[in-house]
Amino acid sequence: MDQIRVEAPASSANLGPGFDVFALALDTPRDGVRLRLGKSSRRGAPSVKMARVSGLEVPKTEEENGACVVCLEMAKQFGAKKEIFVELEKRVPIGLGMGSSGASAAAAAFAMNEVLGLGLSSDELIFYAGKGEAATSGTPHYDNVSASILGGFVVVRGGESERPTAVRFDPPMGLAVCVATPVVSLPSRKTEYARSLLPESVPLGTLVSNVANASLMVSGFAKKDIKLIGKGMTDRAVEEARKTMIPGYDRVRSSAAEAGAAGVCISGAGPSVLAIVDKKRSPPKEVLGAMLAAFGQEGVKSSGYVTRIGKGARVVKSS
Ligand code: HSE
Repeated sequence: MDQIRVEAPASSANLGPGFDVFALALDTPRDGVRLRLGKSSRRGAPSVKMARVSGLEVPKTEEENGACVVCLEMAKQFGAKKEIFVELEKRVPIGLGMGSSGASAAAAAFAMNEVLGLGLSSDELIFYAGKGEAATSGTPHYDNVSASILGGFVVVRGGESERPTAVRFDPPMGLAVCVATPVVSLPSRKTEYARSLLPESVPLGTLVSNVANASLMVSGFAKKDIKLIGKGMTDRAVEEARKTMIPGYDRVRSSAAEAGAAGVCISGAGPSVLAIVDKKRSPPKEVLGAMLAAFGQEGVKSSGYVTRIGKGARVVKSS
């Protein structure tokens, strides 16, 4: 095989109490990465070239582009002997808390594994995809890339000094996801900025509350109980500091709940807000409408969409 095209989905990290640990794959949008192997590289040194970027504007240099960083890292690690040309189809919006850098990095790691026939485990793919995430957001957090690789709801453990271990859960039937994104001006390296807002330590009571909520959420996914998932979707460690980036967050949260959302949280590092909805109980479009109206009442423009929990990275034919 000398070329391959892979798509990987957007994702929403944290889900309230699972900072850097939980994420959901979103069904749409998805980034695409096509890899093409060229001639044998000179002196056998790994060579990765960004051949084309379509869609949204992203850094195009190999050193700055997360997908290329992943390809180069894997090419070095596994001794790729041929030139590798990268084409990126960028569709996941950047800087909105939808795992944009993670989607490209996950697609790149998955594609490298396929085109070089490496046979890596999903935890190893997550590790390499984390290198791209680190290049674009400053720290290797594995939540977004885990969801983009595995799909569904994921729990991942791993950090700067530990290789990741990720577990995937299938979503319950009828779980819809609403994403509402306010128009706000944020620093260009938004995730880095959003992480700089966080407290260095939290009181024991906050830790206990977050462990309890996170455990309820995992139990909810294990039992496919949307109400239980939503019940746990409350964070006391991170959102208080980050909601300063999202004018009207409290109003959006309560409006979504009144309209029937099972749970509401900041999506990743924000500023998007995510609600989960049991379609059997409430129409997701009404929940989204309530969220957008709440932003409007705060004088904030916003847009949004309804989607569902999606599948992970996969090989696809040319679009
Ligand atoms: N867990 C990360 C954070 C996700 O909240 O900083 C960033 O996409």
